Amino acid sequence: MTTKLKFPQGFFWGTATSSYQIEGAWNEDGKGESIWDRFSHTPGHIERGEMGNVACDHYHRWQEDIAIHKELGVNGYRFSISWPRILPQGRGAVNPKGLDFYSRLVDGLLEAGIQPFVTLYHWDLPQALQDEGGWPARATAEAFVEYADVVSRRLGDRVKHWMTLNEPWCSSLLGYQIGEHAPGHHDWKSALAAAHHLLLGHGLALPAIRRNSPQSEVGIVLNLIPTEPASPSPEDYDAFRYFDGFFNRWFLDPVFGRGYPADKVLEYAAQGFLPPTIPLTDGDWGFVKSGDLQAIAQPIDFLGVNYYSRSVQRSPVIPEHQNQPRTVHVAPESEWTEMRWEVFPEGLYRLLNRVNYEYQPRKIYITENGASYSDGPDAAGQIHDERRIAYLRSHLEAAHRAIQNGVPLAGYFTWSIMDNFEWAHGFAQRFGLYWVDFATQKRLPKDSALWYRQVIAGNGLTI
Ligand code: FCB
Repeated sequence: MTTKLKFPQGFFWGTATSSYQIEGAWNEDGKGESIWDRFSHTPGHIERGEMGNVACDHYHRWQEDIAIHKELGVNGYRFSISWPRILPQGRGAVNPKGLDFYSRLVDGLLEAGIQPFVTLYHWDLPQALQDEGGWPARATAEAFVEYADVVSRRLGDRVKHWMTLNEPWCSSLLGYQIGEHAPGHHDWKSALAAAHHLLLGHGLALPAIRRNSPQSEVGIVLNLIPTEPASPSPEDYDAFRYFDGFFNRWFLDPVFGRGYPADKVLEYAAQGFLPPTIPLTDGDWGFVKSGDLQAIAQPIDFLGVNYYSRSVQRSPVIPEHQNQPRTVHVAPESEWTEMRWEVFPEGLYRLLNRVNYEYQPRKIYITENGASYSDGPDAAGQIHDERRIAYLRSHLEAAHRAIQNGVPLAGYFTWSIMDNFEWAHGFAQRFGLYWVDFATQKRLPKDSALWYRQVIAGNGLTI
């Protein structure tokens, strides 16, 4: 017997991308340099020395890309705007050609019956702002407000769904402390300041977006990882709390008006437990000015959740374990994607319930979910990516259960419509529903694209 898992009426089915990962045209039509241009042009940062100069050439092929979305039948498409395309120096002079590009894209989507879901910041900070200190500098939050104002003034009559930031954990911790992302720094204190200024930029930009686009909804996108201790030992419990604190609550708590988590997380941060261990002193928190937490806690209309996997934690906070992997996946029989991320759909169910129960967002969208598998075309040009279909199906089933449980989930955006530039991993990690031949820029539907089309057409799953 087949059961139909129907999703609510009006549910948004979509895909997601970001500017640097698909657009290319890195120095065309007046675009300024971004930190990802600089980072990828510097040898040693990206696997095989790859870079996003051309990527999927979406800047020139956007009409074809709208057409494949139309073919899929999506009613939503989440993309991001390249800040240095709009303000090449990060603030001040506006590049009209940059604004025109996104204006045409928005019109094209609307003509195709697709609602644009616009992310303002998906990691491509103008290099000019990085040269003045980047996100660790408070002035970058102010520049972000100027940028959000310029964009929402131009597109605000047509765009009804805005996201300020994508995954501020990555832009701060991965960029300024772990160094795997642009600008590639290793400085714990500036990573914390960066996280704060990202959140501040989010909070301060909200009123500007609402003013310019009054009929719209505005939210933020967080990458959240459900976490559990590897064992019941107090050390593993601490490790779990610390990871959950730094990864999830560090962003959820202030956005939902609770300030920064005051439990173990601050205690560990004060001792500088993330290597390199530079103890924080009280003075180091000086970047949090009076009124900031109120600004960050401006009400949002929805929370965007990016979910890929879970994490199981064991005692990273014990000094003698510091050179061991912090994340232990307790289920050795687990399946993994090619990103080495465990396939764990139950985590999505738990996460959605937890966020709903603890923070009560008005609405949630799954703004990213997907899997990297490199299955390519066979001799007949067909792409049998069964593992991706299984991944998406199991996660949609989990999302459906969460809705049954009362979670106000209003849409699902799979990452991604097509294979693209996967940051430090370059082009080898393929997340797309469409295969991209990067030599010819041909897009070929994988079996998962055909499957997703059916899901959308039926507004649900047959299991
Ligand atoms: C997320 C990013 C997105 C993409 C996926 C795989 O962390 O937001 O750009 O790279 O991971």
